[in-house]
Amino acid sequence: MGALIKNGTIVSATGSRRADVLISGEIIAQVGEKIVEEEHEIVDATGLLVMPGGIDVHTHLDMPFGGTTSADDYTTGTQAAAVGGTTMLIDFALQSQGHTMREAFDTWCKKSDRKACVDFSLHMAVTDLDPHHTGDTGYGLREMEEMVVEGISSFKLFMAYPGVLMIDDGLMFRVMQKAAGLNALCCIHAENGSAIDIVVSQMIAEGKAAPHYHALSRSPKAEAEATHRAIALADMAGAAVYIVHLSNEDALAALKFMQGRGARALAETCTQYLVLSIEDQMPGNSWEEAKFVFTPPLREKKNQKPLWDALAEGALSVVSTDHCPFRFADQKSLGKDDFRKIPNGGPGVENRLQILWHFGVNAGRITPEKFVELAATAPARIFGMEKKKGSIVPGLDADILLWDPDADYTISAATQRMATDYNMFEGWKVKGNAAKVFSRGELVVDNTTRPGEFLGATGRGRFVRRDANAGGFA
Ligand code: URP
Ligand code: ZN
Ligand code: ZN
Repeated sequence: MGALIKNGTIVSATGSRRADVLISGEIIAQVGEKIVEEEHEIVDATGLLVMPGGIDVHTHLDMPFGGTTSADDYTTGTQAAAVGGTTMLIDFALQSQGHTMREAFDTWCKKSDRKACVDFSLHMAVTDLDPHHTGDTGYGLREMEEMVVEGISSFKLFMAYPGVLMIDDGLMFRVMQKAAGLNALCCIHAENGSAIDIVVSQMIAEGKAAPHYHALSRSPKAEAEATHRAIALADMAGAAVYIVHLSNEDALAALKFMQGRGARALAETCTQYLVLSIEDQMPGNSWEEAKFVFTPPLREKKNQKPLWDALAEGALSVVSTDHCPFRFADQKSLGKDDFRKIPNGGPGVENRLQILWHFGVNAGRITPEKFVELAATAPARIFGMEKKKGSIVPGLDADILLWDPDADYTISAATQRMATDYNMFEGWKVKGNAAKVFSRGELVVDNTTRPGEFLGATGRGRFVRRDANAGGFA
């Protein structure tokens, strides 16, 4: 007999109600009022909200970048996620130029093997359709078909990072055409990498090498231009597109314009863009600002309200983290004298739900139902796993979060599970935290009795195959 969660309030994307949840093995067996107790283990959820476990669709675990590797591996990264109430991640496998997507898939399978602690899936970042240099892109296009068969139904395309991950418009368009035929989703890092590179070189030539200039070198217009271009090309190709880490109101305007024109375009923003700003975190006078060097960079504060409004109104569909952690002491320091060498990325997977609840729900910007939609239900739907994850519905995996809306929590690197030596929200006091977390029916976190600990076995997380559903548009 499985656990019976009683006395809680179930919050779904569409409404809230008092009901019990019965878990059987790894699955939600029953949801209803006053389920008979029999011999179930009772979990008393009095005062708690019962929600689907969080799904963070944008993380970079154990990822090589900027001459180093992101600090969280699949063990620390997935444990940190779980402690914060997130029970499923979608990470990125990166194809290197001259190598196949299959190699990238195998590499990321090895990274996660016996290490992942909650369930996860992968997007495939495409950089090369002709890895064997035959002059024909057929090989890469066939590999895209194979990836979809493997359950990788989203392809990531970088319009930034020239010489490393960036692809040109022709290659992007070809991938989009193929994705359209496969019903796969194209995820886009939308920044004009070529223009940004010129600005970067000019700044360095003028001696502007501090972290602050990383942010100034990447104009919101470079993001807006690329956002429009990516969606227009996807529309031409007949593909559904998902803009990752949208950070500012100019890019949002481009998104809304194309959505208004009927393009099948979705987008996420990330916690950091909702609550951190260039004025507060990067005023321009300290090396500490390297902690906030990621791309797109922090923006002016005036961008935050439009992002919150777009979440509430629906132009933005998801809040993810772009969790890409590097330690301040020995990784960010690679760029001490030159911001180009600071590894880009910040930690956040553990704090996503706390930030979204405290600054979203508590501040009256979004409802609890919208919180569930943005953090779990929409990610599951858009990324082709709504038959397994993202809702409290019989037959789905029992990934369940018992959320305490009254819990006071102080965010700090000293108590976090993420492997960085800093936290972007250091010292912030939030109200609302994960109380208990179930992953496929197993209690893996109990912050009420053993705060911050992961209680499950290392390696218990499984790869989740996702359906190709064109971002839920199809
Ligand atoms: O700075 C960032 N965002 N690092 C991770 C790679 C990416 O662009 O998402
Ligand atoms: Zn990116
Ligand atoms: Zn990213």
